[in-house]
Amino acid sequence: MTEMTPVTDATAAQTPTQPPAPRKIAVPDTQTVTQVTHYTDRLFSFRCTRPASLRFRSGEFVMIGLMGDPDPKTGKQKPLLRAYSIASPSWDEELEFYSIKVPDGPLTARLQHIAVGDQIILRPKPVGTLVHDALLPGKRLWLFATGTGFAPFSSLLREPQTYEDYDEIIITHTCREVGELTYGRDIIESLKTDELLTEVIGDGFWSKIRYYPTTTREESPKMGRITDLMRSGEAFSDLGVPVLTPETDRAMICGNLAFNLELKEMLEGYGLVEGANSDPKHYVVEKAFLD
Ligand code: A2P
Repeated sequence: MTEMTPVTDATAAQTPTQPPAPRKIAVPDTQTVTQVTHYTDRLFSFRCTRPASLRFRSGEFVMIGLMGDPDPKTGKQKPLLRAYSIASPSWDEELEFYSIKVPDGPLTARLQHIAVGDQIILRPKPVGTLVHDALLPGKRLWLFATGTGFAPFSSLLREPQTYEDYDEIIITHTCREVGELTYGRDIIESLKTDELLTEVIGDGFWSKIRYYPTTTREESPKMGRITDLMRSGEAFSDLGVPVLTPETDRAMICGNLAFNLELKEMLEGYGLVEGANSDPKHYVVEKAFLD
């Protein structure tokens, strides 16, 4: 029998003058980044692993983030978390997020530098109102987005239920510059070859989508805020559809605060009533979270 080398206890060997071993921080709910794509100097998307236990409805959001810097006095680190819409559909085995980069934003100033293999924190408690359950049955679904407000619609546009429930889906996206439309345009383009949607809904599902991108600060085929284009009637004549009515139309709004409020007032003017998970109606609103 070979004699075993005794295992020395490193802790026991420490003398009182040695500095203590660095404290190991237990970070719960970490996920690993699997892909990062930068679109402009203000926008990027990333994908990460999905906790096996996470169930969510397409359109919902979760809290995600990174560990904050150590407190200069106590050395303690706290998670820095923000609400982010899940941009991937409920059936996807990974999670996708679409984010703005705010140069001095507490979280996004750091999050924009994440790379494949890095860890992020994800609290697996999905919530939100941009879900099919919060709307009554209708014929035409309007998805109104500005900037990163496209994220929850990226999830819903890849969700078979969207095409099962509606005859027509109109997605409007207003951004400052043309490059800010790329993420949304790529997602919509990818639907043409989406195997799951083709299998579940059939080849024709693609023809239900009407995409209406507009820019406000850079030349593009359609310029202007969607709110102004609706008020003038131009958006409706471009799309060849009548003004929204509570009988046929349902809507989801996700953008900056001023946009949400303005569009909400317009929809109320058309006779649509705001719904909730517990009380489905004609339209729902959620803020695109920035900072
Ligand atoms: P604009 O350039 O005229 O302000 P942001 O990047 O600031 O969140 O804006 C995203 C897009 O939303 C921009 O094109 C911006 O247009 C537009 N926007 C801002 N406020 C409103 C509003 N109240 N109604 C419609 N669009 C808006």
